[in-house]
Amino acid sequence: MITTPDLPLEPETTAPDRPEQATPDWLWRSGNLVPWASAQIHVNAVGHASAAAIFEGIRAYRAAQGESLLVFRLEDHLRRLYDSARICRLDLGHTPAELTAATLDVLRANGYRQDAYLRPWAFPRGYIKEQMVPADSLCEVVIDSWRVDSALEAPAGCRAGVSSWIRISEASMPPRVKAFSNYHNGRLALLEARENGHDWPILLNERHKITEGPGACVALVRDGRVITPSLTSGVLEGVTRDTVITLAEEVLGLAVEQREVDRTELYLADEIFFLGTAWEILPVLAIDGLRVGDGSPGPVAAGLRDAYTRVVRGRSDRYHHWLTEVQCP
Ligand SMILES: Cc1ncc(COP(=O)(O)O)c(C=O)c1O
Repeated sequence: MITTPDLPLEPETTAPDRPEQATPDWLWRSGNLVPWASAQIHVNAVGHASAAAIFEGIRAYRAAQGESLLVFRLEDHLRRLYDSARICRLDLGHTPAELTAATLDVLRANGYRQDAYLRPWAFPRGYIKEQMVPADSLCEVVIDSWRVDSALEAPAGCRAGVSSWIRISEASMPPRVKAFSNYHNGRLALLEARENGHDWPILLNERHKITEGPGACVALVRDGRVITPSLTSGVLEGVTRDTVITLAEEVLGLAVEQREVDRTELYLADEIFFLGTAWEILPVLAIDGLRVGDGSPGPVAAGLRDAYTRVVRGRSDRYHHWLTEVQCP
């Protein structure tokens, strides 16, 4: 049976351990922890809504043992934030070390004791008169956060459909940049997918090859091989994609192919899954109305989820370098 939870594009705000409030106490803004309620912006300082704003999405997992949170691949996410800033010619105005410390400060200040989601984002600061903000514009950097539960221990699946919308391309709006404006493309595809009875869309590129979903990369399994679109197919350079490639090869001993993927390969796949920080490893149980495998999460997805869970909860020494530990208050 296909179970299709109502999955948000990014994890929804949940606050079961803080029932009295849906928002955290603190966020980090350009050098300081700021009380949530006083993080105001002038109506004409539209940098936060401009085409150039960029962001990251990061998870912190509660450790399986002890009283700590483990931020997953923080260094890699911050590197991608700087990569996005470089391509968009924005000046973040902070060092990676400062943003690393700030991320941990946000977790500590808000007193998280359970899994949380962090969103560092950057936007041109000050009074913006037009959308074409100049090169090297100094940014404000905000790190906000919310409570979120992991779906790793409660396996589910979803229905996906190939979209009639074409993925934005390197030639116009590079998908390698994690810019808010890129999500207009994914949103249109999502609206169409929901209209057609799917949970999530998978977008093709202008060469009609598979790219990704609106908030996650895609991989499939055929004859025991894991196949995922290459990084030049028109995808975000996903951290989860990279993690899963590593775990598939090193833990499960599977061959991984990074190459162009045809739409019809989805129809022949034994398994398909989305890969993303927010979605983690989400099996696709039907594609364009065709059942994938036997219509339930497959063994490779299960193996990857298990390995991924061990890593993010700090139960794997081998990948401990991917974790940044913060003591819970
Ligand atoms: C468009 C898009 N592709 C892929 C991903 C997956 O990237 P990651 O695994 O680094 O979260 C995301 C999530 O941020 C995304 O928004």
